[in-house]
Amino acid sequence: MKAVVFDKIGPPLDVLYFAEVPTPQLNDSEVLIRLIAAPISPGDFLFIENLYPEPKKPRFPRQIGGNHGLGVVEQARPDARIEPGTLVAFSHYNSWAEYAAVPVEWLMPLPANFPIEKGAQFFNLISAWDLLTQSRVQAGQWLAVTAGYSAVSIMATQFARQRGVNVISIVRRVHDHLDLKTLGATEVIDISKGSQNTSARAKEITHNQGVNAIIDSAGGPATGELIRAMAFGGQVIINGGMSPERFELHNFDVLLNGLEIKAHVYRYFSRRRKYRTARFFSRLSTPRAEQTSRYRSAACTRWKISRKQLAKACAIQRAAGTSFRCSSPDTLSRHQEHTRWQGTQARL
Ligand SMILES: NC(=O)c1ccc[n+]([C@@H]2O[C@H](COP(=O)([O-])OP(=O)(O)OC[C@H]3O[C@@H](n4cnc5c(N)ncnc54)[C@H](OP(=O)(O)O)[C@@H]3O)[C@@H](O)[C@H]2O)c1
Repeated sequence: MKAVVFDKIGPPLDVLYFAEVPTPQLNDSEVLIRLIAAPISPGDFLFIENLYPEPKKPRFPRQIGGNHGLGVVEQARPDARIEPGTLVAFSHYNSWAEYAAVPVEWLMPLPANFPIEKGAQFFNLISAWDLLTQSRVQAGQWLAVTAGYSAVSIMATQFARQRGVNVISIVRRVHDHLDLKTLGATEVIDISKGSQNTSARAKEITHNQGVNAIIDSAGGPATGELIRAMAFGGQVIINGGMSPERFELHNFDVLLNGLEIKAHVYRYFSRRRKYRTARFFSRLSTPRAEQTSRYRSAACTRWKISRKQLAKACAIQRAAGTSFRCSSPDTLSRHQEHTRWQGTQARL
């Protein structure tokens, strides 16, 4: 089969190459997935640069890239309780290939007609949901998201607006083709005009109430400025580090404001969660005709939200098709040459 592989740690553009590799052999717990779509996300590059924590480390030679995907079950043991032909999403390893062997408990069965570009990046949706929950921001309060055009930030923005939260979207430049306000942002701050302005602007926008929570995927000086514009008891959730720069704080910026700074890691990357995940997935392993309703009720249990909320979330997703692009145009242009090959084409 064709795959995008690497033999050493390094910048993706330098180390990735196409190769013909053997189709994976299945062990007892695995299912063979024929890939339909595999997103290219900043996190995939971290894996190639060996920046993920244990246990997600590359194994050489010919480590296949990609950690998320959507495909169809090609081959499964009868006791795997999943039908060949079932559409599945997964977050595991080796998704930039024509086939991947994935343990059955890591599969998320989806309705057969589930949109491909959405299913392929379920992890972003779940991350956005979890980030918002972790931020503890309430209706009427203010949330700031950095890397405002990123898939995760746009989804978090939409979920926040759904809950009546005001959102300030921080961007490093404005893209004319994508209006963040129509996607739910109350205000947009463009830091290309100088990060020093961020704090003053955030205070002005919130009428001096301050920002109650920050979901930060960028970092850099603007994040430090933003933290200085927070309301007492605010939550800072560190989700990514797109900027190579650091930010600086004085202890009193945190202490006297009662702030909490926390990390967020995608829930299915932690081994401790695997058992709960397995239970969740096992409930989804139903014949395809039943999957839509079963999937929804299981997802409600898993995400601790009501069916009504989930239906609303789905409606928002449908309305805002652009929010489900897999990567920003920048991410795409840097890496698209690695993602297209005959037969399997990454959907972007
Ligand atoms: N912690 C977790 O478990 C978890 C899970 C999922 C995602 N993430 C993180 O969430 C972030 C967004 O992921 P995604 O897939 O949604 O990304 P994406 O759609 O590919 O978008 C990337 C965004 O980052 C912005 N960006 C790039 N370089 C930047 C810089 N130097 N300074 C400020 N902004 C910069 C881009 O801005 P432009 O629009 O201007 O190009 C773009 O909006 C990433 O950091 C990713 O690692 C973390």
